[in-house]
Amino acid sequence: MKIGVPKEILPGETRVAASPDSIKKFISLGVEILIQSGAGEAASMSDADLEGAGAKIVPDAATLYGESDMVFKVGAPCCNGNGGVDELAMMKPDAILIGMLNPLFQREQAEAYAKHGLTSFAMELIPRISRAQSMDALSSQSNISGYKAVIDAAEQFGKILPMMMTAAGTIVPARVVVMGAGVAGLQAIATAHRLGAIVSAFDVRPAVKEQVESLGAEFIEVEDKEAGSAETSGGYAREMGADYQKRQADVIHETMKKQDICITTAQIPGKQAPILVTEAMVKDMKAGSVIVDLATETGGNCELSERDAVVVKHGVTIIGHANYPARVPTDTSTLYARNIYNFISPMIDGETGQMKIDWEDEVIKGALLTRGGSVVNAAVTEKEA
Ligand code: NAI
Repeated sequence: MKIGVPKEILPGETRVAASPDSIKKFISLGVEILIQSGAGEAASMSDADLEGAGAKIVPDAATLYGESDMVFKVGAPCCNGNGGVDELAMMKPDAILIGMLNPLFQREQAEAYAKHGLTSFAMELIPRISRAQSMDALSSQSNISGYKAVIDAAEQFGKILPMMMTAAGTIVPARVVVMGAGVAGLQAIATAHRLGAIVSAFDVRPAVKEQVESLGAEFIEVEDKEAGSAETSGGYAREMGADYQKRQADVIHETMKKQDICITTAQIPGKQAPILVTEAMVKDMKAGSVIVDLATETGGNCELSERDAVVVKHGVTIIGHANYPARVPTDTSTLYARNIYNFISPMIDGETGQMKIDWEDEVIKGALLTRGGSVVNAAVTEKEA
């Protein structure tokens, strides 16, 4: 069996879905790994590094897709005219595709994979159960994004983060607020705390209070009868009602006036991100403050953030890179490649090197997007219903 790893072609995508480590592990299972020349370059993995791990380097995408029985992608393949090249058209009709296919937002693409005949798995749909933690690409990528967001904010901020006592006077520590204390938010809290800032955080799910406090941050609470029911059975946040939103906005507004840095990470699966920071709040922030909006891919948490841009509004710098994991491509690629290995390797028969898939397995079923010419994933079909 041949597994192909193409070069990602969407602008700004610097990651690659393999690493020397994952290549070695796959090869030990008896499969062949093909990598498109230059695929790892932006993640500081040269053709020589990948070849040294055992991959065969192929010159171009057409050769790679034409030979691969299974394809590992970072983002969804371009098709339906959404990229300069139609990657889907180059794939074998019976190939298996694995990637962060964004199916809750790109339903039409999922239909196109089905029509092409692909069996596809969306990494985002892997159930977040303990057994699947090592396969959880949402977590591995968000974790690094949370870290990098604080580093980017610190770089833009005209002051330092820790308290510093010098002969010339004392510098007070910076105040950082993190909105949304999921995987990215918790890492942002930990990073800002390590850098010496005074950190507070806020989330609609009261369950995270303890985690926030254990990282040395203060948990900001919104008192409302709805607060107790903010978490879905899947552990995600749901969209909150108008009354809650109003109370939340008042608390955030008051908090923002005292902050130097604000990192927003709030997401609701399959929906636009909630607006948490309004223009009025930005206006009331101290001059020189910095906001990093990690949710611009789904519309943004700040009313004034601009996707893929760093803008200054009312004296506040607002950072809105949509693809944050692509800003740290060596680590995010390595972790993602390991997530894929952990997901796929149990499906490979160690004796024959061929696929042997247990279609009833909870994790496989959860991630399966298309099979036998149809979109088969309940999370996607139900969202549409
Ligand atoms: P996410 O990326 O969907 O959302 C980020 C955060 O934003 C969440 O904490 C969410 O509660 C918060 N949020 C949403 N709307 C908000 C609003 N209006 N105001 C303030 N905050 C808001 O979440 P992520 O990081 O993917 O984590 C989701 C859940 O999954 C968490 O409970 C996490 O602990 C859990 N998880 C479980 C894993 C497992 O294997 N058991 C692995 C990773 C995460």
